[in-house]
Amino acid sequence: MIEADGIILASPTYFADISPELKALIDCAGMVAKANGDLFKRKIGAAIVAVRRAGGIHAFDSINHFFLISQLIVPGSSYWNIGIGREKGEVKSDQEGVQIMMTLGKNMAWLLKKITG
Ligand SMILES: Cc1cc2nc3c(=O)[nH]c(=O)nc-3n(C[C@H](O)[C@H](O)[C@H](O)COP(=O)(O)O)c2cc1C
Repeated sequence: MIEADGIILASPTYFADISPELKALIDCAGMVAKANGDLFKRKIGAAIVAVRRAGGIHAFDSINHFFLISQLIVPGSSYWNIGIGREKGEVKSDQEGVQIMMTLGKNMAWLLKKITG
């Protein structure tokens, strides 16, 4: 994460929030970064969430709260970055979700090129 110009954090939706694995990463990496002068400052951060039915927006917000307090820059897409699906690969049939991720990727790449020169 320290070496990266851009960071994508993704999670399934568990009881309308992120997985405990991602929460542990955010808490550990976030505190280390803060204690050392905001190590993730001005990197590009994108949140991606998978959801079966509902609660994905809250999980999405949880990741973005971490990005914003850590001084990352957050690119947008045509909608919030949530893909709908339960089983592995099912998200591919969420056509709008796939389109959202493609637009997000393009916006993130555009921003990275501007920032890294
Ligand atoms: C503990 C737990 C909580 C869940 N909570 C939600 C939820 O709030 N909303 C939802 O739409 N799906 C919920 N689901 C369904 C998951 O989003 C779905 O099963 C997902 O594919 C799980 O990804 P995984 O196989 O990587 O754990 C939950 C699943 C688990 C295991």
